[in-house]
Amino acid sequence: MTSSNAAGQKAAAIPLTAEVIESRLKTRLFGTKIYAFDRLGSTNNFAKRLAREGAEAGTLVVAEEQTRGRGRLSSQWYSPPGTGLWLTLILPSDIERNQLGLIPILSGVSVAQTLESVGLQAALKWPNDVLINGKKVCGILTESEFRLDKLHVLIVGIGLNVNQRAADFPEAIRHKSTSLCQEVGKTLDRVDLLVNLIQNFESNYKNLSEGEREQILTAWRQRCPFIGQNITVKNETSQLSGIFESIDENGHLHLRTLDGKLQIVTAGESLFKETGHYVGGD
Ligand code: BTN
Repeated sequence: MTSSNAAGQKAAAIPLTAEVIESRLKTRLFGTKIYAFDRLGSTNNFAKRLAREGAEAGTLVVAEEQTRGRGRLSSQWYSPPGTGLWLTLILPSDIERNQLGLIPILSGVSVAQTLESVGLQAALKWPNDVLINGKKVCGILTESEFRLDKLHVLIVGIGLNVNQRAADFPEAIRHKSTSLCQEVGKTLDRVDLLVNLIQNFESNYKNLSEGEREQILTAWRQRCPFIGQNITVKNETSQLSGIFESIDENGHLHLRTLDGKLQIVTAGESLFKETGHYVGGD
């Protein structure tokens, strides 16, 4: 398996095997059980099935390639072999209901911290996209299921573009996508990044489970350059425009509409119109 750096030099990609990941991870919850695949439809679909069947919280599912990677709002997630990190974590299902909106926030912060470890400054877009220089480098898909009104399944899927060159992206998304390799100008070790990401996730999750919301909210707000800007928030059926005031203690977006009313948005896709940055969803 090979990948190329920004200068087009070929480098062997270290395969993401359970043994390699296990030998490097120092976490106590996330990644203590690992399923690693060469090829899978979608790590989220696989993890969701496992979680429905009662798999241990903390389980990590990772694939070299996804053939049916999914994004938010029914989009596809391009997941070619050997170049990215396509993974899903199964979270404990005992989290308080009003903390659910903080999971995408916590995930975005964990990814941003990982990118900072390789010298990159990421921008977070509500609820959970990660951008570099206005282009999307990572998407996060949080999914939950309830049984008899009780949380039964909670998973977080993360797709991080690591070693793709611009030409590796399909033409339709090339102008709005980037990879870490393109941004730092060299091929990066995916195992290093994965281990760092899971460690960050675990430490942020620990804070949240101990009731420490403010730390994670502050970390998110500091990395979101769009607060105070005019935005449009869309979901599958409607859209709403206004000034993005902030996110609240539950991770919900506060939008001040033209008529001066405060709208609290709990889910959706935010588009930031006035920055000129691409901030779309796929
Ligand atoms: C988005 O920005 O639309 C979310 C993209 C999420 C992609 C990841 S890749 C790993 C996991 N498995 C999937 O099928 N999707 C998520």
